[in-house]
Formats: sequence, structure tokens, C-alpha cells
Amino acid sequence: MAVIGPGAIGTTIAALLHERHIAVTIAGRSPRGSLQLDTDRGAVTVPGPVLTDPTRSTAAADVVFLAVKATQTAAAEPWLTALCEPSTVVCVLQNGIEQIETVAPLVPRSTVVPAIVWFPAERRPDGMVRLRGTPRLTVPRTDGADRIRDLLQHTGCALEIAEDFRTLAWQKLLQNAVAGLMALTGRRAGMFHRGDVGGVALAYLRECLAVARADGADLADDEPERLLEKFRAFPSDMGTSMLSDREDGRPLEWEARNGVIGRLGRRYGIPTPVGDVVVPLLAAASDGPG
Ligand SMILES: NC(=O)c1ccc[n+]([C@@H]2O[C@H](COP(=O)([O-])OP(=O)(O)OC[C@H]3O[C@@H](n4cnc5c(N)ncnc54)[C@H](OP(=O)(O)O)[C@@H]3O)[C@@H](O)[C@H]2O)c1
Repeated sequence: MAVIGPGAIGTTIAALLHERHIAVTIAGRSPRGSLQLDTDRGAVTVPGPVLTDPTRSTAAADVVFLAVKATQTAAAEPWLTALCEPSTVVCVLQNGIEQIETVAPLVPRSTVVPAIVWFPAERRPDGMVRLRGTPRLTVPRTDGADRIRDLLQHTGCALEIAEDFRTLAWQKLLQNAVAGLMALTGRRAGMFHRGDVGGVALAYLRECLAVARADGADLADDEPERLLEKFRAFPSDMGTSMLSDREDGRPLEWEARNGVIGRLGRRYGIPTPVGDVVVPLLAAASDGPG
């Protein structure tokens, strides 16, 4: 088994596998001796090292979990090449709805399975990862899904194999898209209690819902209101990984989480006026110039 990208999500998966005595190759960018996960049940240390040179001979893996940010996928290609063979299943642990389109061309002989990550995890300044909540993933019923289920069985990570993966992926994308407003304001979930912010969030979610439906998602009429209530029920200091990236000066996943919706809206002839303001602002916050 291998994990590419030992950040918040990659460390969580590596630690869950390690707890079940499953050996994991850890492929990263920054060298480290081990990984550490802090959970409600206590701390888990995954022995390293974190490998950082894909040109050094590394055995191919049966299952590869790709957990780099969507902005880092292209740079992780050398690791995918090193760790994948035709029988490898690549499980993509990334937000967005285009994991197959972006990753499959990098591993044309392997099987790519997108996964929806439902749990929050955070990297702390000391390098430890804090897992919040219970790990849970959803994958589509497709080739490779059974292998991921078998691997994660008894690990403490729940895995659902979904018949209607498209709908669930869009449901998560709507949540991610509106969370992007936090990266613009530099505020946490408490900001959604403002009436004016709630209005913007609902207008944005409604246009996202229209695109989602045009793209085949079977979401209810009141999904925007349901999501706004969900954000209002979050602890007011809860952030989002895009806000953490902004605070730390890292590139934002604006294209995978927001840009894609406007792009598909244009394809389906659906106007996205709120997104047309939000996306350039996120892109500029991420990539400049200035
Ligand atoms: N965190 C969450 O709560 C959460 C929840 C749901 C979904 N997601 C999604 O899950 C995905 C991963 O997010 P994350 O929060 O785990 O990100 P993250 O903490 O930033 O982790 C990314 C990891 O990938 C490594 N990396 C970067 N470039 C690499 C390369 N070329 N080769 C190998 N490793 C490389 C980074 O190395 P460095 O240590 O050098 O930076 C880091 O360890 C994202 O799509 C995110 O939106 C996250």
C-alpha cells in the first residue's frame, strides 16, 4: 500500500492502515522520520521515513491513496509513475468532481477510483495531524471499489460504496464551494450567522444547485437552505482547508472547488453570476499577481 501526500488526509489514512499492521509506503515532498496522528482515542505514530525521491526504486503498490491537494496533482505524477502498475488501484482522496479526468491521464494503465472525504483533519504547526470526527469515505460502485473496501475493513474508516456517487460528490462540492466564502473574508463558520452573508451563500448555492442538476445530480430543492443551516450549526470557529491555505499563503484549490461550477454552468447554459464574482477573487487571492 502507498500514500502519496502525507498531509492531513494522507496521514489519517496511513495511521488507520498502520494500526491494522498494514505496511504503507509514504511518498511526500518534505522529508520526515514519521507521521503522527492525534485522535480522540489517543496518538498514533506511523514509522517513516517519508520518501521524497520517486526516482529511487520503489516497489509498485496494490492500492495507492493519492492525498495531495488538487493543485499538487500534476507535481505528484512522478510518484504515481513509480508506484503504479496495471493492477494498481489509485484511490483519489481529494475534493472536487473531476478526480478521474485529472488523475487517469497520469496513470493510464491503472484503475482510478475517486473518493469523497467526509471527515475534517488539520495539520498543526508541529506537523501532527488532528483528526476530528469519525473517518468516512464514499466511493462509486466501480472497478477497484471492492479492493478499497476490503483494505479499509476493520480500520476504523467507514467506507460506503455508492450507487449514485455523482449526487453525493455534488453535494460535497456545494458544501466546499460555499465554504470558499470563508477564504475570501478570512472568517470562520460563525460568519454565516450574518443575514447578508446568508443571503449571498443562498444565492451562490442556488446557482450551484442548478448546475449540479444539469450535470446529473439528484439533489433536493431545499439543499441550499439545508447547507446554510449546517454551516450555522457548525462551531463558529470552524474553518475550512481553503481558509487554512489562505492564512498560510499556500495556493487555493479554487478551480477544483469553485471554478469547475462556472465552467460547467457555461457548458450547460446556466448563468452563475455569484460564482463569476467569487471565482476570480479566489483565484487572485491564491495566485496573484499583486
Ligand atoms: N483536510 C481536510 O479536512 C479535508 C477534508 C476533506 C477533503 N479534503 C481534501 O483532501 C485533499 C488533501 O487535503 P489535505 O488537507 O490533506 O492537504 P495537505 O494537508 O496540504 O496535504 C497535502 C500533502 O501532499 C504533500 N505533497 C505536495 N506536493 C507533493 C508532491 N509533489 N509529491 C508528494 N507529496 C506532495 C504535501 O507535502 P508538504 O508537507 O511538503 O506540504 C502534504 O503532505 C484536498 O483535495 C482537500 O480539499 C481535505
